[in-house]
Amino acid sequence: MQTVHLLGLCGSLRKASSNDVVLRTVAEELLPAHAVMEIPSLHDIPLYNEDLDLTESSTPVSVSLLRQMVANADGVLIASPEYNHGMSGVIKNTLDWLSRPHGNSVLKNKPVLVMTASPAFTGGVRAQQQLNETLWAVQAKLVRYPQIVVGAVAGKIKDGRLIDEPARQFLAAGIVSLCDTVRG
Ligand SMILES: Cc1cc2nc3c(=O)[nH]c(=O)nc-3n(C[C@H](O)[C@H](O)[C@H](O)COP(=O)(O)O)c2cc1C
Repeated sequence: MQTVHLLGLCGSLRKASSNDVVLRTVAEELLPAHAVMEIPSLHDIPLYNEDLDLTESSTPVSVSLLRQMVANADGVLIASPEYNHGMSGVIKNTLDWLSRPHGNSVLKNKPVLVMTASPAFTGGVRAQQQLNETLWAVQAKLVRYPQIVVGAVAGKIKDGRLIDEPARQFLAAGIVSLCDTVRG
């Protein structure tokens, strides 16, 4: 079976981010044998400015590199916190950069699975609705099921790892769906 190359994008820049912990647990412990996942840093992605997005030479290097990584990946896993009932500005900004050039985004037809994690019982589900809407706009190939929310996440993490077994199984099932979508 061919290796599936996945990219994990984290919508939180916080050092102790629970979304980052969940992503890294997926990358290191929950992938099927034939899949690998890389998690690029989004710290250097500037705020979107269309003036910088006019030519290849005007585009920030960090953005060009990220676009290339997404283009090379077979599928993407997005993990975002919920900020004021929406996705984080970090992930919205990243998706705006990745959405261009209009109609020819590296996310177009790219299989994408979305997950949210939050200390709240609701697990960031409202941010997830917003993410789905944006991914719809860029014509990504959304993995519709399962929709992964990890509620009360603080109690599910220990020593920098997601340890809650139902949440781990939920994520593993999502990754299988993502890999199935990649294979068509
Ligand atoms: C500006 C701001 C707004 C927030 N709004 C929400 C919210 O609407 N819903 C929610 O579940 N948590 C909300 N939170 C709490 C975040 O879910 C919490 O900080 C979470 O740990 C962030 O994800 P991270 O651990 O990956 O950084 C908010 C936090 C901040 C800083």
